Amino acid sequence: MVEILPSILSADFARLGEQIAALEAAGCRMLHMDVMDGHFVPNITIGPPVVESLRKATRAILDVHLMIEDPDKYAPIFIQAGADQVLVHQEACRHLDRTLRMIRSEGAKAGVVINPATPVATLDDVLDIADYVLVMSVNPGFGGQQFIPNALHKVRELAARRKERGLHFPIEIDGGVTKENLAKIIDAGVEWVVAGSSVFHTVNPPAAFEEMRRIAHDATAIRV
Ligand code: DX5
Ligand code: ZN
Repeated sequence: MVEILPSILSADFARLGEQIAALEAAGCRMLHMDVMDGHFVPNITIGPPVVESLRKATRAILDVHLMIEDPDKYAPIFIQAGADQVLVHQEACRHLDRTLRMIRSEGAKAGVVINPATPVATLDDVLDIADYVLVMSVNPGFGGQQFIPNALHKVRELAARRKERGLHFPIEIDGGVTKENLAKIIDAGVEWVVAGSSVFHTVNPPAAFEEMRRIAHDATAIRV
């Protein structure tokens, strides 16, 4: 099932509750939240209190993307705050297998992320314990960057490995997704699509969300 996940990084933080309620009314079921610490990436964003507040304000699944240096220390805190699923970077985890198992034992879905320069092969030994895999299609740190086309090769490679090994984890993509490149992305094998500026930096975010969902569904129909 293809889902569009609006990334609240590009939302108007002064009107966050209102913007999310409008997206939920338009059928949004999953929200992406970018946590940055100014060390792993050159930007600082939100922490657990924002997850906690949103948890009370929405029934959508909260997909929390940790772009931080010590994910082992903070993942449980974000889960406690209400994260349903937590993404950790392969590049930030010294003991990735342990971290993914820890997130699952804390009661959340465990996702693993690879940066544009990290090969899919580095995930071979955790694909059976990750609940989902995110391929970064920009270098993490900022919204509104340009899509890196090589991400599509990586998605295809990951989808092929998934099939070969009889696994079923969803593949997520994050960064630079637009109405224009969305069909190609779905065609490569992506199920969950993060969209920041292409939803929020428009005059009507719920309408932009609906349009992207329609494009994604049409592309899925062709893929199957
Ligand atoms: C980038 C973040 C993304 C960001 C995507 O580091 O992980 O989730 O919000 O924003 P857009 O869709 O504008 O590229
Ligand atoms: Zn993200």
